[in-house]
Amino acid sequence: MTALVSIIMGSKSDWETMSKAADTLTQLGVPHDVRVLSAHRTPDELIAYLEAAEKEGVEVFIAAAGGAAHLAGVVASRTVRPVLGVPMQSPALQGLDSLLSTVQMPSGIPVATFAIGAAGAVNAALFATSILGNAMPEYSKKVKAHRDAKRKAILANPDPRK
Ligand code: RP5
Repeated sequence: MTALVSIIMGSKSDWETMSKAADTLTQLGVPHDVRVLSAHRTPDELIAYLEAAEKEGVEVFIAAAGGAAHLAGVVASRTVRPVLGVPMQSPALQGLDSLLSTVQMPSGIPVATFAIGAAGAVNAALFATSILGNAMPEYSKKVKAHRDAKRKAILANPDPRK
């Protein structure tokens, strides 16, 4: 089935973190694509991919990058679909550089920015699924079921000493 969500990351080194976004989308049954494409290392290929992905039906883009993390901003400059930015935990500044680069978009080109690292990756996937749920209610049901499973897991074992 055609991908509804695209996960783009600036480097293969981001995959360990962003695999958590892909795993979450898989658990939720959301068809998705995954690509390493960089705003500065492969700019032409990035733009070509975005144009093709939109034409093929991608509804939401998740863009992950670290350091001077301009990938999500560049993606947002080329699509009016929602762009969810995930800052990678960089070695130099533990991801604060990535966070500020991603979140501080100037007025006019929005990037919805998530937490640094794995929490951001998972939440971006959940949020993308919620967006899909606006037009496709089956995806809202998947998000509700995911929350319900987490709730039940806590209540099934509420004593932290066990
Ligand atoms: C960014 O530079 C990537 O998103 C990655 O987080 C960071 C480091 O990339 P590598 O040097 O590991 O390829 O563009």
